[in-house]
Amino acid sequence: MSIQYEKEKGLIRLNTRSSTYAMQLLPGGYLAHLYYGPRVGADDLRYLIRYVDRPQAPNPPGSEDRIFSLNILPQEYPGFGCGDYRSAAVNCRGADGCFAADLRAEAVEVLTDTMLPVGLPHFHAFASEAHDTLRIRMADPAIGLQAELYYTLFEEQDAIVRWTRFINGGETPLILDRAMSFSLDFAAGDFDWLQLWGGWSRERHVERSPLRHGIQAAESRRGASSSQHNPFIALASPTADETQGEVYGFALAYSGNHLCFAEKDQYGGVRVGLGIHPEAFAWTLEPGGSFDTPQCAAVYASDGLGGMSRKFHLLIQRHLCRGPWRDRPRPVLINNWEATYFQFNADKLAAIAADAARLGIEMLVMDDGWFGKRDDDRSGLGDWTVNEAKLGCTLPELVSRIREQGLQFGIWFEPEMVSPDSDLYRRHPDWILKAPSRTPSLGRSQYVLDMSRPEVVDYLYGAMAAILRSAEITYVKWDMNRYITEAGSAALSPNRQGEVFHRYILGVYRLLDQLTADFPEVLFEGCASGGGRFDPGMLYYTPQIWTSDDTDAIERLSIQYGTSLLYPPACMACHVSAVPNHQVARTTPLETRTAAAMAGVFGCELDLTTLSREEKEILGREIARYKRLRPLIMEGELYRLKSPFEKGERGLGAAWMLVSRDKTHALVTAVQAMAIPDTPFFRLRLQGLLPQAAYRVEPDGFILSGAALMGAGLNLPYIIGDYGALTYELTMCGG
Ligand code: GLA
Repeated sequence: MSIQYEKEKGLIRLNTRSSTYAMQLLPGGYLAHLYYGPRVGADDLRYLIRYVDRPQAPNPPGSEDRIFSLNILPQEYPGFGCGDYRSAAVNCRGADGCFAADLRAEAVEVLTDTMLPVGLPHFHAFASEAHDTLRIRMADPAIGLQAELYYTLFEEQDAIVRWTRFINGGETPLILDRAMSFSLDFAAGDFDWLQLWGGWSRERHVERSPLRHGIQAAESRRGASSSQHNPFIALASPTADETQGEVYGFALAYSGNHLCFAEKDQYGGVRVGLGIHPEAFAWTLEPGGSFDTPQCAAVYASDGLGGMSRKFHLLIQRHLCRGPWRDRPRPVLINNWEATYFQFNADKLAAIAADAARLGIEMLVMDDGWFGKRDDDRSGLGDWTVNEAKLGCTLPELVSRIREQGLQFGIWFEPEMVSPDSDLYRRHPDWILKAPSRTPSLGRSQYVLDMSRPEVVDYLYGAMAAILRSAEITYVKWDMNRYITEAGSAALSPNRQGEVFHRYILGVYRLLDQLTADFPEVLFEGCASGGGRFDPGMLYYTPQIWTSDDTDAIERLSIQYGTSLLYPPACMACHVSAVPNHQVARTTPLETRTAAAMAGVFGCELDLTTLSREEKEILGREIARYKRLRPLIMEGELYRLKSPFEKGERGLGAAWMLVSRDKTHALVTAVQAMAIPDTPFFRLRLQGLLPQAAYRVEPDGFILSGAALMGAGLNLPYIIGDYGALTYELTMCGG
């Protein structure tokens, strides 16, 4: 049993393959956190808490000896206002209007069924694998609040997934002001903090710093998980690196406002919390009503950041992504955005498709500009009817033309938005998010639709389903190009406006849920001005996401490296684009662009008709190679060999490798930053191979043992020119 409950001692132990997570039910129903770390035996871990009389630490009623204080107790799901001054997991107002919550455990149950939050993305178990779930029922009788804490174990991935269901068990409404998905207290915390920060076109850069006293947070109040702070944090031992050392990773399966924090207190303890951002959040719970938090996954690894990432990759790919496309080879696509922007018609798309077919590309995606009145980004959003005058034909005719060339057809939508200059807005001006007393702000000349309203979601479903049914469309790019301002809904009363941000995301999830259920053969790809909503919540519906609007191969090294900390290659869409690059004007060799795109789901985003014959030859060859390597890239294990974030502008820019799960096949990629004269040679120590096996290393033709390749390393030659790339394929040939 991976979940053990020793009732007499109040001890709860959750064991995954190499981690243990332990709690203790104390007299009075207090739920203490005992331990999270390397797997231990059946020890009585109650010795881990010390009770002492500490200054400035309030004592709850009944603890006159003053040695019990919530402010020093490591807790599992702490409340606000009753003696613990650290950041709470829950805060709630009852009939007395006071801000306070003090949940006590009432029952501990081990369930064989997995319990899931309603209307939210979730990690799912396979029937063939055991995934025990623990439920701890808690209550705060003073205000009538009940909570059910859920813990599901994914033993192989060393992952624990947590979420909470709140129930109003009283007779008067409650207001939830804070409802975190996850809270954890480390008694001591000499950690480094890692986060993925960024901005538009430079998403998910890795930042690491020693955890300091006070609160460090990655957070979003933009209505989406954001380019700025991914809903993921890690705490690593200061000496941990890619290959060794302890790392705890935490990822929230949510696409809206989030707060992911670590608070180091005056005793050196560390509280970690992840959940919906409590700012601008207040949820009214009517008597008998319930509220489910999003899920949060925690992973423990003793083999460094690389180990943590590989566990998350498997967890996300197997237990979060779903639908027929989860395991299917994803098509190599050509997207016309950077090729044409808004200026295209069916003939232009057909010309691109003709070249694409010759190069082995499998799908053409028609991006923004095919609907309503949409020749720039100032009008038309919301009017999801085909602009046949612009295309020069109907959509079914265009799709047939593309399919006749042997390509599948994909299409772009930005469902959640509306342009002021659109028929939809003229018909329904109250369908946007806005505060009644303010003029709504524009972003990219558009408003945000009020996805909290069922009629808006229903309208979008109808409009999108009609397009998808009208022709053989097998892919949708789901874009979202501005964040929320003036978050008010005309459908909610003034005292419930604190629910808008979360209800918005629930509406987005409902639309995604319905469309993915009714169109299972359609591959949905997420996008939000590139990677502005690249999060585990979206990956439940869209198994791949456009990683960034920055298509420059060198910029992509950092973006993709950071993204890979949490997300597997099969989730990252990576495209070859034109030079000079449209975002940074950099010119890189075509082989470097293809090598960078082979770190994930490969595609193209340029006007193929303008390429020289030589460029077409290279691209065609690399596409054929990608298709041959696709199973390795989609299913293999990722090992990061050289970080682009390490200091030094010159020399080796980044290196990584993918190893098949049976260890017989690997792809190694190294990209040079700026060339320098008379450079040192780089020895690139590989990882993840079988030491005793022999591998043929192509293109060099050497046969070397895994031990030599991992110990002595690949001896890289000079890489010629700025931004040059080398790739090696390793095939096991004995061992
Ligand atoms: C966003 C996307 C791009 C493209 C444009 C279209 O910026 O990230 O890939 O689809 O919108 O307007």
